[in-house]
Amino acid sequence: MKTKKRGKRFSKEVYTDEQSSFISNPEYVAQHIVETILDYKDFKSAVELCSCVGSTCIQLAKKIDKVIGIDSNPDRVSMARKNAELYEIDNVQFIHGDVLDSDLLKSIDADIALLDPGWSTRVMDRSSHVSDIDATQPSLRDMFNLTKQYVTNDIVARVPATFTCATLKELGNCKIENIVIDGMVVFKVAYFIGDMEECSEEDIVFE
Ligand SMILES: C[S@@+](CC[C@H](N)C(=O)[O-])C[C@H]1O[C@@H](n2cnc3c(N)ncnc32)[C@H](O)[C@@H]1O
Repeated sequence: MKTKKRGKRFSKEVYTDEQSSFISNPEYVAQHIVETILDYKDFKSAVELCSCVGSTCIQLAKKIDKVIGIDSNPDRVSMARKNAELYEIDNVQFIHGDVLDSDLLKSIDADIALLDPGWSTRVMDRSSHVSDIDATQPSLRDMFNLTKQYVTNDIVARVPATFTCATLKELGNCKIENIVIDGMVVFKVAYFIGDMEECSEEDIVFE
């Protein structure tokens, strides 16, 4: 178990719609993910598939030279661009597109990919979370396979609390972090970076 400092959900008045304010990655978790991936390797470029209003991309862009976010909701892409301005970030590009579009993925140059498909609009209500890799929106399996084929083998996925090593084993071995906020696992982050001999899980407690 690791204990980390829990900051504000967002340190600025970010642009969001009602749903994205719930499904967005809290800024302090995004910062933790960025630190963790940079502990693996000094990645210079990153793409986030399903970037929503840009929460994770903005934190990535503070530490990584070139960042791209892709989302199919045009309003969220506009909000993500405004949020990047709010945070005075100019090394992130937000693209309106479908993350299952192989032509789009072929055009992306990135050392690491973060996958953040939808899996619930009620993040704190575990009973609403999907429980397999084909049930996310879009399918995590499809996103993962296309990313490996066209972009990079180094992949991180934000997944529901219902996912375990058994759920993710078809994609490969990974390190799973259970993100604990207010005493409960609200979601997990799975790191498929480099070769791992087995799957492991660890609690990351934000307090
Ligand atoms: C869980 S949210 C992502 C949260 C975000 N990564 C963050 O850091 O806050 C899921 C996003 O997936 C987008 N989405 C769903 N289907 C998509 C598709 N086929 N292509 C691109 N984006 C898609 C939705 O518009 C939504 O914004």
